[in-house]
Amino acid sequence: MKSVAAAAVDTRSRVAVLISGAGSNLQALIDACASGALSAQVVVVVSSRTDAGGLSRARLAGIPTVALPHVGFADRDAHERALVAALEPCRPDLIVLAGWMRVLGPTFLTRFGSRTINLHPALSGAFPGPNAIARAWAAFQRGEIDRTGVMVHRVVAEVDAGPVVAVCEVALHSGESLPDLTARVRAEEHRLLVDAVGLTLTGDVPDC
Ligand code: GRF
Repeated sequence: MKSVAAAAVDTRSRVAVLISGAGSNLQALIDACASGALSAQVVVVVSSRTDAGGLSRARLAGIPTVALPHVGFADRDAHERALVAALEPCRPDLIVLAGWMRVLGPTFLTRFGSRTINLHPALSGAFPGPNAIARAWAAFQRGEIDRTGVMVHRVVAEVDAGPVVAVCEVALHSGESLPDLTARVRAEEHRLLVDAVGLTLTGDVPDC
């Protein structure tokens, strides 16, 4: 006689992570899910680059991956439609932009904007766009600022702007090299992103 075991249902929140690079922030999320620090599972990793190091991290963790470079698509909207089509079957509760280097427009935002957060390695309103850490470092050398930071925010049409979920300041030190500052900011990113995902999933942050 065959015994029939009930299939275990995974009730953890379903998180999709969008990346373009090395994926160190993705790794922080994978580790937090594995340790139970986050009651969540990364259900898919989408990369805008085929050579992103984060894809290997995802595969190593057994997470499905999709490489979706924009090259070959007719326009931005066609690429976004493909992104939405890749995410839909994964039924994400939350989408995390963790070093995703593509601006997202109405097609994505209409479908998933209310459940998407973005990591920005600077304070709210400061240095939107790429190379934020280097631009903050250079501004400090010119005496324009004395601190930078990291923020996680809900995604709106404006780049690196939107209601803040979590933020932390990083003091700037005289004589510190850009690589050393980058390492300090990255460490804060890894910690803050895990916190922000937890806050968002537990509903401690209002919807936008
Ligand atoms: C992070 O600094 C993120 O804030 C920025 O790009 C970097 C991605 O790093 N937008 P990684 O791919 O998570 O290592």
